[in-house]
Amino acid sequence: KVFFHPIQAAEAPSPTKRRTKISVIGVGNVGMAIAQTILTQDLVDELALVDAKEDKLRGEMLDLQHAAAFLPRTRIVADTDYAVTAGSDLCIITAGARQIPGESRLDLLQRNLTLFKIIVPPLAKHSPEALLMVVSNPVDVLTYIAWKLSGFPPNRVIGSGTNLDSSRFRFLLADHLQVNAQDVQAYMVGEHGDSSVALWSSISVGGVPVLGSLERQQIAYEEGVLERIRKAVVQSAYEVIQLKGYTSWAIGYSVANLARSLLRDQRRIHPVSLLAKGFYGIDDEKEVFLSLPAQLGRGGVLGVASVHLTEEEASRLRHSADTLWDIQKKLGI
Ligand code: NAI
Ligand code: 2OP
Repeated sequence: KVFFHPIQAAEAPSPTKRRTKISVIGVGNVGMAIAQTILTQDLVDELALVDAKEDKLRGEMLDLQHAAAFLPRTRIVADTDYAVTAGSDLCIITAGARQIPGESRLDLLQRNLTLFKIIVPPLAKHSPEALLMVVSNPVDVLTYIAWKLSGFPPNRVIGSGTNLDSSRFRFLLADHLQVNAQDVQAYMVGEHGDSSVALWSSISVGGVPVLGSLERQQIAYEEGVLERIRKAVVQSAYEVIQLKGYTSWAIGYSVANLARSLLRDQRRIHPVSLLAKGFYGIDDEKEVFLSLPAQLGRGGVLGVASVHLTEEEASRLRHSADTLWDIQKKLGI
Protein backbone atom coordinates (compact mmCIF):
# COMPACT_ATOMS: atom_id res chain seq x y z
CA LYS A 1 0.00 0.00 0.00
CA VAL A 2 3.05 2.29 0.40
CA PHE A 3 3.29 2.57 -3.39
CA PHE A 4 -0.38 3.15 -4.17
CA HIS A 5 -3.18 5.39 -3.14
CA PRO A 6 -5.84 2.73 -2.70
CA ILE A 7 -9.23 3.55 -4.21
CA GLN A 8 -11.78 2.06 -1.88
CA ALA A 9 -14.56 1.45 -4.41
CA ALA A 10 -12.18 -0.17 -6.91
CA GLU A 11 -10.70 -2.64 -4.44
CA ALA A 12 -10.79 -6.05 -6.03
CA PRO A 13 -12.50 -8.87 -4.19
CA SER A 14 -9.99 -11.31 -2.71
CA PRO A 15 -8.95 -13.77 -5.41
CA THR A 16 -11.05 -16.89 -5.47
CA LYS A 17 -9.15 -18.61 -8.28
CA ARG A 18 -7.13 -21.56 -6.99
CA ARG A 19 -3.39 -21.07 -7.38
CA THR A 20 -1.65 -23.61 -9.58
CA LYS A 21 1.74 -25.05 -8.75
CA ILE A 22 4.24 -27.15 -10.69
CA SER A 23 7.30 -28.76 -9.16
CA VAL A 24 10.29 -29.75 -11.27
CA ILE A 25 12.66 -32.30 -9.77
CA GLY A 26 16.17 -32.08 -11.24
CA VAL A 27 17.53 -28.74 -12.46
CA GLY A 28 19.86 -30.08 -15.14
CA ASN A 29 19.56 -29.36 -18.86
CA VAL A 30 16.10 -30.90 -19.14
CA GLY A 31 14.62 -29.59 -15.89
CA MET A 32 15.70 -26.04 -16.67
CA ALA A 33 14.45 -26.16 -20.28
CA ILE A 34 11.06 -27.28 -18.92
CA ALA A 35 11.10 -24.66 -16.14
CA GLN A 36 11.88 -21.78 -18.46
CA THR A 37 9.30 -22.85 -21.06
CA ILE A 38 6.63 -23.13 -18.36
CA LEU A 39 7.52 -19.64 -17.13
CA THR A 40 7.44 -18.00 -20.55
CA GLN A 41 4.08 -19.66 -21.28
CA ASP A 42 2.49 -18.36 -18.07
CA LEU A 43 1.25 -21.78 -16.97
CA VAL A 44 1.42 -21.50 -13.18
CA ASP A 45 1.35 -19.22 -10.16
CA GLU A 46 4.14 -21.07 -8.36
CA LEU A 47 7.12 -23.06 -9.62
CA ALA A 48 9.10 -25.17 -7.13
CA LEU A 49 12.51 -26.61 -8.01
CA VAL A 50 14.28 -29.50 -6.26
CA ASP A 51 17.74 -30.93 -6.84
CA ALA A 52 20.35 -32.74 -4.76
CA LYS A 53 23.04 -30.13 -5.58
CA GLU A 54 22.36 -27.19 -3.27
CA ASP A 55 24.52 -24.54 -4.98
CA LYS A 56 23.42 -25.37 -8.50
CA LEU A 57 19.79 -25.34 -7.33
CA ARG A 58 20.04 -21.92 -5.68
CA GLY A 59 21.96 -20.56 -8.67
CA GLU A 60 19.27 -21.70 -11.11
CA MET A 61 16.49 -20.32 -8.90
CA LEU A 62 18.16 -16.90 -8.64
CA ASP A 63 18.91 -16.79 -12.37
CA LEU A 64 15.22 -17.40 -13.18
CA GLN A 65 14.03 -14.96 -10.50
CA HIS A 66 16.25 -12.27 -12.06
CA ALA A 67 14.12 -12.48 -15.21
CA ALA A 68 11.04 -11.37 -13.23
CA ALA A 69 10.81 -8.05 -15.07
CA PHE A 70 10.36 -9.87 -18.38
CA LEU A 71 8.08 -12.72 -17.36
CA PRO A 72 4.50 -13.26 -16.21
CA ARG A 73 4.40 -13.02 -12.39
CA THR A 74 5.28 -16.43 -10.93
CA ARG A 75 6.58 -17.29 -7.47
CA ILE A 76 9.76 -19.33 -7.88
CA VAL A 77 11.02 -21.35 -4.91
CA ALA A 78 13.72 -24.00 -4.56
CA ASP A 79 14.96 -26.39 -1.90
CA THR A 80 16.63 -29.75 -1.49
CA ASP A 81 13.78 -30.61 0.93
CA TYR A 82 10.64 -31.96 -0.73
CA ALA A 83 8.46 -29.90 1.63
CA VAL A 84 8.94 -27.11 -0.93
CA THR A 85 6.80 -29.11 -3.41
CA ALA A 86 3.80 -29.37 -1.04
CA GLY A 87 0.43 -28.89 -2.68
CA SER A 88 1.67 -29.25 -6.28
CA ASP A 89 -0.85 -29.80 -9.06
CA LEU A 90 1.83 -31.34 -11.27
CA CYS A 91 5.22 -32.83 -10.33
CA ILE A 92 7.69 -33.33 -13.18
CA ILE A 93 10.66 -35.64 -12.57
CA THR A 94 13.74 -34.97 -14.69
CA ALA A 95 16.43 -35.93 -12.15
CA GLY A 96 18.92 -38.61 -12.95
CA ALA A 97 21.67 -39.91 -15.15
CA ARG A 98 21.62 -39.15 -18.86
CA GLN A 99 23.17 -41.03 -21.77
CA ILE A 100 26.72 -40.44 -22.89
CA PRO A 101 27.42 -41.10 -26.59
CA GLY A 102 27.09 -44.85 -27.21
CA GLU A 103 24.66 -45.52 -24.34
CA SER A 104 20.99 -46.36 -24.86
CA ARG A 105 18.19 -45.03 -22.65
CA LEU A 106 17.70 -48.50 -21.15
CA ASP A 107 21.35 -48.49 -19.98
CA LEU A 108 20.35 -45.82 -17.44
CA LEU A 109 17.76 -47.96 -15.67
CA GLN A 110 19.62 -49.22 -12.60
CA ARG A 111 21.09 -45.79 -11.77
CA ASN A 112 17.79 -44.00 -12.13
CA LEU A 113 15.77 -46.69 -10.35
CA THR A 114 17.89 -46.04 -7.24
CA LEU A 115 17.14 -42.32 -7.49
CA PHE A 116 13.41 -42.84 -7.98
CA LYS A 117 13.25 -44.75 -4.68
CA ILE A 118 14.54 -41.55 -3.03
CA ILE A 119 12.48 -39.08 -5.06
CA VAL A 120 8.97 -40.50 -5.57
CA PRO A 121 7.83 -41.33 -1.99
CA PRO A 122 8.39 -37.81 -0.56
CA LEU A 123 6.87 -36.21 -3.68
CA ALA A 124 3.74 -38.34 -3.32
CA LYS A 125 3.59 -37.63 0.41
CA HIS A 126 3.69 -33.84 0.00
CA SER A 127 1.29 -33.69 -2.99
CA PRO A 128 -1.05 -36.67 -2.67
CA GLU A 129 -3.51 -35.24 -5.22
CA ALA A 130 -0.93 -34.27 -7.85
CA LEU A 131 -0.42 -35.47 -11.37
CA LEU A 132 3.00 -37.07 -11.76
CA MET A 133 4.94 -36.70 -14.98
CA VAL A 134 8.11 -38.69 -15.58
CA VAL A 135 10.74 -37.45 -18.04
CA SER A 136 13.93 -39.17 -16.80
CA ASN A 137 15.04 -42.14 -18.90
CA PRO A 138 14.23 -44.86 -19.64
CA VAL A 139 10.96 -42.96 -19.37
CA ASP A 140 8.48 -45.84 -19.87
CA VAL A 141 9.99 -48.18 -17.27
CA LEU A 142 10.52 -45.29 -14.84
CA THR A 143 6.88 -44.24 -15.24
CA TYR A 144 5.88 -47.78 -14.23
CA ILE A 145 8.25 -47.49 -11.24
CA ALA A 146 6.83 -44.06 -10.28
CA TRP A 147 3.33 -45.53 -10.45
CA LYS A 148 4.29 -48.37 -8.12
CA LEU A 149 6.24 -46.18 -5.69
CA SER A 150 3.63 -43.40 -5.53
CA GLY A 151 0.56 -45.57 -5.02
CA PHE A 152 -1.31 -43.10 -7.29
CA PRO A 153 -4.06 -44.28 -9.62
CA PRO A 154 -2.67 -44.95 -13.12
CA ASN A 155 -4.52 -42.04 -14.74
CA ARG A 156 -2.43 -39.62 -12.62
CA VAL A 157 0.98 -41.06 -13.56
CA ILE A 158 2.14 -40.13 -17.05
CA GLY A 159 5.42 -40.41 -18.93
CA SER A 160 6.38 -37.70 -21.42
CA GLY A 161 6.80 -40.63 -23.81
CA THR A 162 6.57 -40.20 -27.56
CA ASN A 163 5.06 -36.71 -27.49
CA LEU A 164 8.66 -35.69 -28.29
CA ASP A 165 9.25 -38.43 -30.90
CA SER A 166 5.98 -37.41 -32.57
CA SER A 167 7.16 -33.80 -32.77
CA ARG A 168 10.40 -34.96 -34.38
CA PHE A 169 8.32 -37.10 -36.77
CA ARG A 170 6.10 -34.13 -37.66
CA PHE A 171 9.13 -31.90 -38.20
CA LEU A 172 10.78 -34.37 -40.59
CA LEU A 173 7.53 -35.07 -42.46
CA ALA A 174 6.82 -31.33 -42.75
CA ASP A 175 10.31 -30.76 -44.05
CA HIS A 176 9.86 -33.54 -46.63
CA LEU A 177 6.38 -32.39 -47.70
CA GLN A 178 7.27 -28.67 -47.44
CA VAL A 179 4.38 -27.81 -45.14
CA ASN A 180 4.08 -26.40 -41.61
CA ALA A 181 4.73 -29.02 -38.89
CA GLN A 182 1.71 -27.72 -36.97
CA ASP A 183 -0.50 -28.80 -39.89
CA VAL A 184 0.92 -32.32 -39.86
CA GLN A 185 -0.88 -34.82 -37.66
CA ALA A 186 1.23 -37.92 -37.10
CA TYR A 187 1.91 -40.21 -34.18
CA MET A 188 4.82 -42.24 -32.97
CA VAL A 189 3.69 -44.69 -30.28
CA GLY A 190 5.17 -47.46 -28.12
CA GLU A 191 8.48 -47.12 -26.31
CA HIS A 192 10.12 -43.69 -26.24
CA GLY A 193 13.29 -44.71 -27.97
CA ASP A 194 14.65 -47.51 -30.02
CA SER A 195 11.51 -49.64 -30.52
CA SER A 196 9.07 -46.73 -31.08
CA VAL A 197 6.45 -47.33 -33.77
CA ALA A 198 5.52 -44.89 -36.55
CA LEU A 199 1.80 -44.94 -37.34
CA TRP A 200 1.91 -44.32 -41.08
CA SER A 201 -1.83 -44.71 -41.35
CA SER A 202 -2.29 -41.76 -38.91
CA ILE A 203 -0.50 -39.15 -41.02
CA SER A 204 -2.60 -36.33 -42.35
CA VAL A 205 -1.87 -32.81 -43.51
CA GLY A 206 -4.62 -30.26 -42.99
CA GLY A 207 -7.03 -33.15 -42.43
CA VAL A 208 -6.08 -34.97 -45.68
CA PRO A 209 -4.76 -38.51 -45.07
CA VAL A 210 -1.34 -38.56 -46.69
CA LEU A 211 -0.91 -42.19 -47.72
CA GLY A 212 -4.41 -42.48 -49.19
CA SER A 213 -4.02 -39.22 -51.08
CA LEU A 214 -0.64 -40.18 -52.53
CA GLU A 215 -1.97 -43.58 -53.60
CA ARG A 216 -5.04 -42.01 -55.22
CA GLN A 217 -2.91 -39.56 -57.14
CA GLN A 218 -0.63 -42.43 -58.07
CA ILE A 219 2.39 -40.47 -56.97
CA ALA A 220 5.22 -42.91 -56.66
CA TYR A 221 5.96 -42.45 -53.00
CA GLU A 222 8.76 -44.76 -52.05
CA GLU A 223 8.46 -46.77 -48.90
CA GLY A 224 12.18 -46.14 -48.60
CA VAL A 225 11.59 -42.43 -47.99
CA LEU A 226 9.10 -43.15 -45.20
CA GLU A 227 11.39 -45.72 -43.63
CA ARG A 228 14.28 -43.23 -43.74
CA ILE A 229 12.12 -40.69 -41.89
CA ARG A 230 11.21 -43.26 -39.21
CA LYS A 231 14.86 -44.19 -38.72
CA ALA A 232 15.80 -40.51 -38.56
CA VAL A 233 13.27 -40.00 -35.74
CA VAL A 234 14.81 -42.86 -33.75
CA GLN A 235 18.31 -41.54 -34.45
CA SER A 236 17.42 -37.92 -33.58
CA ALA A 237 18.36 -38.03 -29.92
CA TYR A 238 21.59 -39.96 -30.58
CA GLU A 239 22.61 -37.35 -33.15
CA VAL A 240 21.91 -34.42 -30.83
CA ILE A 241 23.69 -36.13 -27.90
CA GLN A 242 26.70 -36.81 -30.14
CA LEU A 243 26.74 -33.15 -31.21
CA LYS A 244 25.94 -31.19 -28.03
CA GLY A 245 26.06 -33.78 -25.24
CA TYR A 246 22.36 -33.83 -24.29
CA THR A 247 18.90 -32.91 -25.61
CA SER A 248 16.91 -30.16 -23.92
CA TRP A 249 14.94 -27.59 -25.94
CA ALA A 250 12.52 -29.93 -27.71
CA ILE A 251 11.75 -31.87 -24.51
CA GLY A 252 11.24 -28.53 -22.72
CA TYR A 253 8.55 -27.50 -25.22
CA SER A 254 7.07 -30.99 -25.33
CA VAL A 255 6.55 -31.13 -21.55
CA ALA A 256 5.22 -27.56 -21.34
CA ASN A 257 2.74 -28.54 -24.07
CA LEU A 258 1.62 -31.51 -21.96
CA ALA A 259 1.46 -29.39 -18.79
CA ARG A 260 -0.86 -26.93 -20.54
CA SER A 261 -3.24 -29.70 -21.69
CA LEU A 262 -3.31 -31.19 -18.19
CA LEU A 263 -3.60 -28.13 -15.98
CA ARG A 264 -5.80 -26.10 -18.32
CA ASP A 265 -8.01 -29.16 -18.96
CA GLN A 266 -7.54 -28.82 -22.71
CA ARG A 267 -8.65 -32.41 -23.47
CA ARG A 268 -6.23 -32.55 -26.38
CA ILE A 269 -4.83 -35.83 -27.71
CA HIS A 270 -1.13 -36.47 -27.06
CA PRO A 271 0.90 -39.64 -27.38
CA VAL A 272 2.14 -40.15 -23.80
CA SER A 273 3.28 -43.08 -21.73
CA LEU A 274 0.38 -44.63 -19.83
CA LEU A 275 -0.66 -47.98 -18.40
CA ALA A 276 -1.21 -49.76 -21.70
CA LYS A 277 -2.40 -53.22 -20.68
CA GLY A 278 -5.52 -54.26 -22.51
CA PHE A 279 -5.15 -51.76 -25.37
CA TYR A 280 -4.39 -52.82 -28.95
CA GLY A 281 -3.97 -56.47 -27.97
CA ILE A 282 -1.42 -55.88 -25.18
CA ASP A 283 -1.95 -58.67 -22.65
CA ASP A 284 -3.82 -57.76 -19.47
CA GLU A 285 -1.14 -59.21 -17.20
CA LYS A 286 1.58 -57.01 -18.75
CA GLU A 287 1.62 -53.89 -16.59
CA VAL A 288 3.67 -51.86 -19.03
CA PHE A 289 3.64 -48.14 -19.59
CA LEU A 290 4.14 -47.07 -23.17
CA SER A 291 2.85 -44.30 -25.37
CA LEU A 292 -0.58 -44.32 -26.96
CA PRO A 293 -2.54 -41.29 -28.19
CA ALA A 294 -4.44 -40.18 -25.08
CA GLN A 295 -6.83 -37.43 -24.15
CA LEU A 296 -5.32 -35.29 -21.39
CA GLY A 297 -7.12 -33.02 -18.95
CA ARG A 298 -7.11 -31.89 -15.30
CA GLY A 299 -7.78 -35.47 -14.19
CA GLY A 300 -4.70 -36.75 -16.07
CA VAL A 301 -5.29 -39.42 -18.70
CA LEU A 302 -9.00 -39.17 -19.53
CA GLY A 303 -9.07 -41.80 -22.28
CA VAL A 304 -7.12 -43.58 -24.99
CA ALA A 305 -7.95 -42.68 -28.59
CA SER A 306 -8.98 -45.60 -30.76
CA VAL A 307 -6.65 -44.86 -33.67
CA HIS A 308 -6.66 -47.34 -36.52
CA LEU A 309 -3.51 -49.48 -36.46
CA THR A 310 -2.54 -51.80 -39.28
CA GLU A 311 -1.76 -55.39 -38.21
CA GLU A 312 1.94 -54.64 -38.67
CA GLU A 313 1.76 -51.50 -36.52
CA ALA A 314 -0.15 -53.36 -33.77
CA SER A 315 2.37 -56.18 -33.86
CA ARG A 316 5.29 -53.72 -33.53
CA LEU A 317 3.49 -52.10 -30.59
CA ARG A 318 3.11 -55.48 -28.86
CA HIS A 319 6.80 -56.13 -29.50
CA SER A 320 7.58 -52.79 -27.78
CA ALA A 321 5.38 -53.91 -24.85
CA ASP A 322 7.15 -57.29 -24.64
CA THR A 323 10.58 -55.60 -24.60
CA LEU A 324 9.55 -53.38 -21.68
CA TRP A 325 7.77 -56.20 -19.81
CA ASP A 326 10.86 -58.43 -19.97
CA ILE A 327 12.88 -55.65 -18.35
CA GLN A 328 10.27 -54.83 -15.69
CA LYS A 329 9.83 -58.45 -14.60
CA LYS A 330 13.45 -58.51 -13.42
CA LEU A 331 13.16 -55.36 -11.29
CA GLY A 332 11.34 -56.85 -8.32
CA ILE A 333 9.21 -53.70 -7.83
P1 NAI B 1 21.61 -33.47 -16.14
O1 NAI B 1 22.78 -34.27 -15.71
O2 NAI B 1 21.85 -32.14 -16.79
O3 NAI B 1 20.65 -33.20 -14.89
C1 NAI B 1 20.27 -34.18 -13.99
C2 NAI B 1 20.00 -33.49 -12.66
O4 NAI B 1 19.49 -34.45 -11.74
C3 NAI B 1 21.24 -32.86 -12.03
O5 NAI B 1 21.02 -31.49 -11.76
C4 NAI B 1 21.42 -33.67 -10.75
O6 NAI B 1 22.00 -32.92 -9.68
C5 NAI B 1 19.99 -34.07 -10.47
N1 NAI B 1 19.90 -35.17 -9.50
C6 NAI B 1 20.66 -36.27 -9.40
N2 NAI B 1 20.29 -37.00 -8.34
C7 NAI B 1 19.25 -36.35 -7.76
C8 NAI B 1 18.44 -36.60 -6.62
N3 NAI B 1 18.59 -37.69 -5.85
N4 NAI B 1 17.49 -35.71 -6.31
C9 NAI B 1 17.30 -34.61 -7.05
N5 NAI B 1 18.05 -34.31 -8.15
C10 NAI B 1 19.01 -35.16 -8.47
O7 NAI B 1 20.72 -34.40 -17.09
P2 NAI B 1 19.65 -33.91 -18.14
O8 NAI B 1 20.29 -33.68 -19.45
O9 NAI B 1 18.84 -32.84 -17.52
O10 NAI B 1 18.76 -35.25 -18.28
C11 NAI B 1 17.95 -35.65 -17.20
C12 NAI B 1 17.19 -36.93 -17.56
O11 NAI B 1 16.21 -36.65 -18.57
C13 NAI B 1 18.05 -38.06 -18.11
O12 NAI B 1 17.61 -39.29 -17.56
C14 NAI B 1 17.78 -38.01 -19.60
O13 NAI B 1 18.01 -39.23 -20.25
C15 NAI B 1 16.31 -37.65 -19.58
N6 NAI B 1 15.76 -37.11 -20.82
C16 NAI B 1 14.53 -37.58 -21.18
C17 NAI B 1 13.93 -37.14 -22.32
C18 NAI B 1 12.61 -37.70 -22.71
O14 NAI B 1 12.14 -37.44 -23.83
N7 NAI B 1 11.95 -38.46 -21.87
C19 NAI B 1 14.56 -36.11 -23.18
C20 NAI B 1 15.84 -35.68 -22.71
C21 NAI B 1 16.41 -36.19 -21.57
C1 2OP C 1 15.51 -37.70 -26.18
O1 2OP C 1 14.85 -38.42 -26.95
C2 2OP C 1 17.44 -38.51 -24.85
O2 2OP C 1 15.27 -39.38 -24.49
C3 2OP C 1 15.99 -38.26 -24.87
O3 2OP C 1 15.84 -36.54 -26.48
